[in-house]
Amino acid sequence: MNSTTQQAVAVLGSTGSIGVSTLDVIARHPDSYRAWALAANTSVEAMRDQCLTHQPEYAVMMCPDAAEQLRAVLPAELGTTVLQGEEGLHKIATDPAVDAVMAAVVGAAGLPSTLAAARAGKRVLLANKESLVMAGHLLMEAVRDSGALLLPIDSEHNAIFQCLPVDRAGRPGRAGVSKVLLTASGGPFRTWTPAQMAAATPEQACAHPNWDMGRKISVDSATLMNKGLELIEACWLFDLPAPQVEVVVHPQSIVHSMVQYDDGSVLAQLGNPDMRTPIAYGLAWPQRIDAGVAPLDLISQGRLDFEAPDEGRFPCLRLARESVMAGGTAAAICNAANEVAVAAFLDGHVGFGDIPAIIERTLADTPVVEPDSLAVVESADAQARACAALLVENRNS
Ligand SMILES: NC(=O)c1ccc[n+]([C@@H]2O[C@H](COP(=O)([O-])OP(=O)(O)OC[C@H]3O[C@@H](n4cnc5c(N)ncnc54)[C@H](OP(=O)(O)O)[C@@H]3O)[C@@H](O)[C@H]2O)c1
Repeated sequence: MNSTTQQAVAVLGSTGSIGVSTLDVIARHPDSYRAWALAANTSVEAMRDQCLTHQPEYAVMMCPDAAEQLRAVLPAELGTTVLQGEEGLHKIATDPAVDAVMAAVVGAAGLPSTLAAARAGKRVLLANKESLVMAGHLLMEAVRDSGALLLPIDSEHNAIFQCLPVDRAGRPGRAGVSKVLLTASGGPFRTWTPAQMAAATPEQACAHPNWDMGRKISVDSATLMNKGLELIEACWLFDLPAPQVEVVVHPQSIVHSMVQYDDGSVLAQLGNPDMRTPIAYGLAWPQRIDAGVAPLDLISQGRLDFEAPDEGRFPCLRLARESVMAGGTAAAICNAANEVAVAAFLDGHVGFGDIPAIIERTLADTPVVEPDSLAVVESADAQARACAALLVENRNS
């Protein structure tokens, strides 16, 4: 093992879908990468197994009880120190020994550690799109000020990143770009009627046709809020106004997104729907490494279809677009209301059709202010959560 060229990676959200795929890619390249620290919320058993396999310096459990349980089951000779809570996450996101941080905590909970990694000037592999949606201004400012490298892991943004022009220093630019085309699978309800969607169960919403993902993002894909959050993410990442980000439904999820140029050219990135491709790209950029992904066979794929999104059946896409255009804390409010509504749907407290209604009402009832600091964003998030929780309660009573 050549420890001088080995990159130390902190995997935040290691027990989740993106975290597991990240550890798979890291394990394929032991000379180049090491899982230096892992973090999760409550999944003690999965974390124990990951620690035994990857032998990290640190394992962080957000929940203090889970941290206690992990300390009890990890053999002392492993040498892994168990930390807990936001302090633990901050430590591994910013430690001088860490080269790259995989930001793959789900939801708003990922914001403080993602921001901390950016402020510490790390190579930030951004899966946690909610960070940019809530605090795009603060995160992009942190990246600029610290010289951090922000690499998008969402497959669509990773595709756009790959298709953008680069300047002489290899940095992505926007010269000659007329718009970006964000592809969407359309989710499991793409062809469902409004009546069928109104009666949809959490299991049906989580049964994504092409991607195997965590439950929250799976529901977001079913409502198209995931595409709405990605539209906001694209505006921040690539410094584009919302009208220059067009959503195109592409049911096969083979074209991961495209960039359209002024001269009529459209560049696309294609591949099998497997998150290990963008993860490997983020880890190795500007190099390319094996991701363990099967090569794309276009002949057996046969056809690629494209259609317009139906914002009548999927109002979440419109709500997200309106909130990024409104500016201020509107997108953070939209994100918080969505998290509350999706959790209530997954717990069986509200129906699928209630999700956009709760978001729209929360957006109307929560004041929008300038997102000057993390505290302001967190306060808007808390107000929106309280408003959305009340709406959930009222629907239950
Ligand atoms: N899955 C995909 O294909 C995909 C694609 C693009 C982008 N993303 C984005 O990547 C992020 C992760 O998605 P996922 O599908 O991997 O989610 P997931 O499978 O639900 O995993 C979430 C991870 O976050 C941890 N976590 C949850 N709450 C936490 C908290 N308060 N503090 C610290 N850790 C916490 C979980 O730990 P426990 O196991 O202990 O709960 C788990 O490790 C999301 O922002 C999502 O939008 C995912």
